[in-house]
This record gives sequence, structure tokens and C-alpha cells, in this order.
Amino acid sequence: MKNILVTGGLGFIGSHTVVELQNEGFEVLIIDNLSNSTIDVLDKITSITTKKPTYFNIDLKDKVAVQQFFKENEIDGVIHFAASKAVGESVEKPLEYYENNIGSLVYLLQEMRANNVNNFIFSSSCTVYGQADELPITENASVKPAESPYGNTKKIGEEIIKDTTKISIINAIALRYFNPIGAHKSSKIGELPIGIPQNLIPFVTQTAAGIRKELSVFGSNYPTSDGTAVRDYIHVVDLAKAHIVALTRLLNNKNKASFEVFNIGTGNGNSVLEVIQSFEKVTGKKLNYKLVDRREGDITAAYADTTIANNELGWKAELTLDEALLSAWKWQQTL
Ligand code: UD1
Repeated sequence: MKNILVTGGLGFIGSHTVVELQNEGFEVLIIDNLSNSTIDVLDKITSITTKKPTYFNIDLKDKVAVQQFFKENEIDGVIHFAASKAVGESVEKPLEYYENNIGSLVYLLQEMRANNVNNFIFSSSCTVYGQADELPITENASVKPAESPYGNTKKIGEEIIKDTTKISIINAIALRYFNPIGAHKSSKIGELPIGIPQNLIPFVTQTAAGIRKELSVFGSNYPTSDGTAVRDYIHVVDLAKAHIVALTRLLNNKNKASFEVFNIGTGNGNSVLEVIQSFEKVTGKKLNYKLVDRREGDITAAYADTTIANNELGWKAELTLDEALLSAWKWQQTL
């Protein structure tokens, strides 16, 4: 039985990954400071898997607490989700973002080194590619200057991890997520945006639920088939499963370098209008929306080339956009 530390394990992607880890027989320890999650997610996970993960309310910025945790617990691998992720907020509060996302990463890696914990999975993002020169985006596409402090924490985070793997026996995989959406089929866990959602799908489901009056579609003159921006929307359960295969690769010493990166997307690009159409089709709900100006900092199009992830990890997204949107809607109805 392997003991896996999941930081941010009560968050959106973290909670789905904890469920998949437990389903695969891993023993899960969660560190989460509840800064963007609620404690009842722990019970929801338990009711899905019938096994309660061990939970620690630790702030990873608390170096002493992190030291103590590693002293007291035998850990075989770490999946690190805990981080702040609001792009706009990061522009307002860059130092908080650097302290939270970079500080905690450094403490975690230091304690992993000190305690011979050698397997590390990092939540990275396709945001590191910016507007890529070519589509679909391969892992070899160049990393662009970050558009926001949030994006920069992902870029710098990868560099810190890479440098650490060079001088230690830590092996790491950074998973560059495209746009995670959807919810668990039980509708017990899902995305819980605080306040007005910034991301498309929670805004769509809240509009359909009558919480928001109308969805603004940001930009209708992009050079895409229908003028709206294109993204690669991946079901969070498929994404969660990618973490299990990446972790297993490290645990079985199947990695080909001490630091590897993989794109985790479906390989399909969908426009905002296609998302709306798909949502209306699967839910039978008419969505109130209007076309407005572009949102600052948005790119035209991003979707993944998943060949390397398919071949190296033996992983492929299985769930469709329709399935993801339906699961997001079912989840919304429980809120
Ligand atoms: C955003 C972040 C990205 C981050 C990711 C995490 C920005 C600029 N980028 O990506 O750094 O890694 O979330 O999930 O914030 N849209 C609308 N109306 C809305 C909301 C969104 O039309 O009310 C459009 C956007 O313009 C975009 C698409 O929907 O074309 C997806 O938006 P979103 O869900 O915010 O994701 P990204 O912008 O791709």
C-alpha cells in the first residue's frame, strides 16, 4: 500500500484525484487549508469511496508545520494541487500569489528531499504556452512569458522543480492541464467557485440555473470558425486519472527523465458557441447569452497534441464534451 500526499485534495481537481487514487488502492493523506474549499468535501469523498482519507488542516506556507508533517508521516509520493488560481486576483495581489504558490512549493520540495520522498506530480497549466505559434500544441512548443502572476507561478514552479530534480533524487512530472470541466458522476463533488465565476462552465451552469442573468461571450471576432475563442475542455475525471498513471510511472521507475512534462487535454478544440450549443443540447435548457468584447489577456485558441501523453503514459481522455457538460449541470443542480 503506497501512501500518497495530495495537497489541495479538497479542491476541484484534487478531490476527483483523491477518489481515483482510493479506487486504485492508494492510501491518501490530504493537506488542505480550506482557502478555496470546504471541509464537507471530505465527507463527500468518503461517501463515494467508502473510505475516509486522512486529513490535515495545514497551510503549506507554514514551514514548521510542513516539516512536522513529513517527520510524522511515511510518504511515497506527492501530488501537489494546492495553489491560488484566479488570474485577475493574481494581477491585484502578485506577492500573495508568489508567496502562496512558490513559497509552499519550495517548502514541500525541501521536506521531500530531507525525508527521501522522491516522486512528485505538479499541477501545471497550458497557460505556460501563451498563444502558441502552432496548433495543436505539443510539449515542445516554446514556453512564453506569462500573462499574469498566476501564470508565472506555473512557469516558475516548473523551473524550480526541474532545477531540484537535477541535484536530488526527486523525480517529477508536470501535467499541463488544458481546461478542466465537469464533475464526478455521483454529483457529490464538483467545482465550487467563490463569488462570480471567472471560468466559462460555472458561469454557464449558473446562468442556466437562474443565478446569473446572462452569459457574456467574450469576443466574437477571433480568427476561428465562428469568431469565438477555442479551448480544449477536458473532463475532470479523465484529468484525475492522468495523475494516477503519471504517479504510477514514477513509482515504477518508468520515467525517461528526472523531469517530464505532459499535455493533459482531449486534443479537440471547441469554440465558446460550440460549448453553448452542446450545453443546450444535452440539458434541454436555453441559455441566455450575448456577444461582448474580448476579455483582456485571452488567447484565440489552445488545444493539445496529446500524442506524447497517449504514447508515454498510455492515457487518453475518454469522456466527451457532452458528458462533461451534463455532469457539470447535474452538479450545479445539487448546489
Ligand atoms: C483561464 C485562465 C488560465 C487558467 C485557466 C484555469 C484567463 C485569461 N486564463 O483560462 O490562465 O489556467 O482559466 O482554468 O483567465 N468565456 C466567456 N465568458 C465567460 C467566461 C469565459 O466567453 O463568462 C470564454 C473565455 O473568453 C475563453 C473561454 O470562455 O475563451 C474559456 O474561459 P475560461 O474558462 O476562463 O478559461 P481560460 O480563459 O482558457
